[in-house]
Amino acid sequence: MKAITGGTGFIGTNLAEYFLKKGEKVQIIDNFSRKGTKENKKYLEKNFPANLKIIKGDIRKDLKLMEKVFSEADAVFHLAGQTAVTTSIKNPRKDFETNALGTLNVLEAARKNKNNPSLIFSSTNKVYGKLNQTQVTEKEKRFEYKNLIGVNEQTALDFHSPYGCSKGSADQYTRDYSRIYGLNSVVFRQSCIYGKRQFGVEDQGWIAWFIIASILGKKLTVYGNGKQVRDVLFAEDLSKAFDLATQKINKTKGKIFNIGGGEKNTLSVLELISILEELNEKKIKYSFDKARAGDQKIFVSDISKAKNVFGWQPEISAEKGVKMLFNWVKENQKEIKSLKLF
Ligand SMILES: NC(=O)c1ccc[n+]([C@@H]2O[C@H](COP(=O)([O-])OP(=O)(O)OC[C@H]3O[C@@H](n4cnc5c(N)ncnc54)[C@H](O)[C@@H]3O)[C@@H](O)[C@H]2O)c1
Repeated sequence: MKAITGGTGFIGTNLAEYFLKKGEKVQIIDNFSRKGTKENKKYLEKNFPANLKIIKGDIRKDLKLMEKVFSEADAVFHLAGQTAVTTSIKNPRKDFETNALGTLNVLEAARKNKNNPSLIFSSTNKVYGKLNQTQVTEKEKRFEYKNLIGVNEQTALDFHSPYGCSKGSADQYTRDYSRIYGLNSVVFRQSCIYGKRQFGVEDQGWIAWFIIASILGKKLTVYGNGKQVRDVLFAEDLSKAFDLATQKINKTKGKIFNIGGGEKNTLSVLELISILEELNEKKIKYSFDKARAGDQKIFVSDISKAKNVFGWQPEISAEKGVKMLFNWVKENQKEIKSLKLF
């Protein structure tokens, strides 16, 4: 059985669907705090009535529940979390309790399972901070690294913002539980992930947000000059990475991996807008505002370690993925509108 915390969130729903399609049993723990989780729950229950159990629970306090669910699991995917930097600045205590304390609770509960399940934690590239030392050049539509292909796992940690600090400490705890307690734990430092069932808002999930806003005719603001670049990974490719890393747990345990689209799958905000103008067959209205605090000009992950250690690499190109998400949003406009995301 696969246990997923935060399993009715965006990445969790995709991961649950991936395993359910493979005929695996899945149990989800989620407190449904994120908008759209109730809809994701309905979607999973409707399409995969067998092999699925969705339980309301909170990683900040429901230790006994987690112990029970994890006791049956051969793999735990810890995805539950507070995910927006902006929200973490408004409420650092809640952010800490969810991401740092919540992860400690998950690790402790997994440690009670005598079969030592695999445990993969969704960390973030934000643990590397602003990377001020990297040299960047400015091109017509994007920033580029001057002499770097991508950021690797050896890069110094530099936590910025309460979100960076809470995820960063959870990242280090997860790794250390492998050293100290022999837990089969793995850290994925995820870059920008996008895909179906992502109800992006301005603060988090920028690709989904731009697509949704462009289709529903909402006002778009570009913070900074729009040349910011990210490597982007379609959720299905991430699910495959989770699966492969657990299958090869003897090689992956105790290790940290940067997981993203890598150098072959990058997008700037302006480039995304151009793609969306083509897909929408019309100009998109947007205005500029000043750059957001802590926003990196460019972040591209070096994903070669994941390829070398467990044979994973992305298969869905940025262009193809954006088109798939665009089509999904078009087909599901009614559901998205009813969520009143903005
Ligand atoms: N989406 C990305 O681009 C990205 C990038 C890097 C890291 N991550 C990490 O991946 C994970 C999943 O992200 P996502 O995009 O699916 O976000 P999401 O907000 O869609 O999913 C998070 C889920 O956690 C649940 N949750 C929140 N607090 C909880 C609590 N106290 N107890 C139980 N459940 C709780 C929410 O209801 C939600 O279903 C997060 O940990 C996030 O930090 C995401």
